[in-house]
Amino acid sequence: MAIRRGSSCAVLALLALASVAAVSADVFFQEKFEDGWESRWVKSEWKKDENMAGEWNHTSGKWHGDAEDKGIQTSEDYRFYAISAEYPEFSNKDKTLVLQFTVKHEQKLDCGGGYVKLLGGDVDQKKFGGDTPYSIMFGPDICGYSTKKVHTILTKDGKNHLIKKDVPCETDQLSHVYTLIIRPDATYSILIDNEEKQTGSIYEHWDILPPKEIKDPEAKKPEDWDDKEYIPDPEDVKPEGYDDIPKEVTDPDAKKPEDWDDEEDGEWTAPTIPNPEYKGPWKQKKIKNPNYQGKWKAPMIANPDFKDDPYIYAFNSLKYIGIELWQVKSGTLFDNILITDDAALAKTFAEETWAKHKEAEKAAFDAAEKKKEEEVNSLAVLMFAWLIAAWVSAKV
Ligand SMILES: *[C@@H]1O[C@H](CO)[C@@H](O)[C@H](O)[C@H]1NC(C)=O
Repeated sequence: MAIRRGSSCAVLALLALASVAAVSADVFFQEKFEDGWESRWVKSEWKKDENMAGEWNHTSGKWHGDAEDKGIQTSEDYRFYAISAEYPEFSNKDKTLVLQFTVKHEQKLDCGGGYVKLLGGDVDQKKFGGDTPYSIMFGPDICGYSTKKVHTILTKDGKNHLIKKDVPCETDQLSHVYTLIIRPDATYSILIDNEEKQTGSIYEHWDILPPKEIKDPEAKKPEDWDDKEYIPDPEDVKPEGYDDIPKEVTDPDAKKPEDWDDEEDGEWTAPTIPNPEYKGPWKQKKIKNPNYQGKWKAPMIANPDFKDDPYIYAFNSLKYIGIELWQVKSGTLFDNILITDDAALAKTFAEETWAKHKEAEKAAFDAAEKKKEEEVNSLAVLMFAWLIAAWVSAKV
């Protein structure tokens, strides 16, 4: 009896532990674009009156690992896209914030974004557009050869702050997972396909606050600061008579030609040749300066303009996720959006969604490319046959 009670206690303890683990992760928003997604998302009317609002296509795209696993894809070229979903308002004060989604550019994107935004306060979702203030913007942005990066913009007091680090994004036509983690110790990480690509301090990688320390503007290089790395070698002295060595000497082998006529040709002088003894102007050897103090640097002091904001990483209100894009060429497909406070959970979510299908998606993409190539080839064969036929019929 005692044993039984003991084991049931252990089970209870385990259950309690499991439920603690379960409640410790908060999922603020999750969207896999399964049936019913349209009830959660509001299509904005932004750009509609100009006929410039693009339609979203609920699809798994041209290539995919699972035809049933759909997302939303931009479907018209030269259009603006704006769509958003609301979730219960929260603040990431004192907790980790993880924003993650999958994006696939099926169109071989040459200029356009694949980013999402988190918005707070009250947003009229029907009017959500390019000017709607947001808290965070995150995701890949591609334009020509110069821009191929992961955008990470944090908005503080109405000002957008771009990350100062260049984080390259993926540029192929396959699905990739983008993850932004912002921690309450004011550090962040950017992951692509569950691999960390950049990490660091929000203080240092954004110019949200002025720097904590600056070079002392009052400091001056001391007069006697020795910043010469090399000095002339005092041991090396110019040999006596060095400067008297001529650059050229008369050629000792030269002889006055037999037929030289002093009267007609003038007085004969031997030609000169470079003096093998001549070594150029004398240069004193250089040696390492034993008193070298290094390059002078102003000492760092606390920046009087710096006022710490311990909540530099935090947003009071996060309430909507929005996708707002301009697309020259459509075909960008979003899926598997997750907003949580648990990076491990996000990792698992990416493994169970994107990673599970990535091999099959790659195979489907390769097959589609091969088919396209074959079509081009058979068209070329057809054209060639037609040309031959035309040529033959012209001959007869
Ligand atoms: C939606 O996507 C599928 C798959 O790529 C495509 O066959 C279909 O034509 C698209 N529909 C629209 C309206 O663009």
